[in-house]
Amino acid sequence: MAETIRVLVPEKEVDKRIEELGKKISEDYAGKQVHLICVLKGGVFFMCELAKRITVPVSMDFMSVSSYGAGTESSGIVKIVKDLDEPLEGKDVLIVEDIIDSGRTLFHLMKILKERGPKSMHICTLLDKPERRVEDVKVDYVGFNIPDEFVVGYGLDYAQKYRNLPFIGVVEGVE
Ligand code: PRP
Repeated sequence: MAETIRVLVPEKEVDKRIEELGKKISEDYAGKQVHLICVLKGGVFFMCELAKRITVPVSMDFMSVSSYGAGTESSGIVKIVKDLDEPLEGKDVLIVEDIIDSGRTLFHLMKILKERGPKSMHICTLLDKPERRVEDVKVDYVGFNIPDEFVVGYGLDYAQKYRNLPFIGVVEGVE
């Protein structure tokens, strides 16, 4: 059976929620500059949309990590594939993710980045699967809590496809 995509969160709802998050972040960071860190690749769509809705000064940097191990489970041992271009010292850092699942990636990434001396460090994710959590990470801004289903769109892929979907979907019809 060919795979199909079922809409879980329609585009309008995603847009509305990102707008709300942008407003909240703008209030919380009033008088400050927020330094957004995008964890590639999945975080890039969300970060761009979020950044457009933040009204305090924004700077951005990008990094790419891989966790050792194959398949859909992350091992939690984070290897930096592409590091940030700029130092974090003294910055109000907001890490932007597309999804938090076991929490392993962020748990280890936070440890690495905190050693670089940011003034503050918080987490914003579009999607959260709290029931899957293995590591205790404190998530400050969540777009949507979702059930444990295989989701794609808005940066999330299935075999590198579907990242460009403007909504959150569930892949069906795959083994
Ligand atoms: C996803 C997501 C997080 C991580 C979450 O990235 O963007 O970084 O997995 O999983 P965890 O909470 O269980 O650690 P992925 O490794 O799929 O890379 P990609 O964004 O390049 O697709």
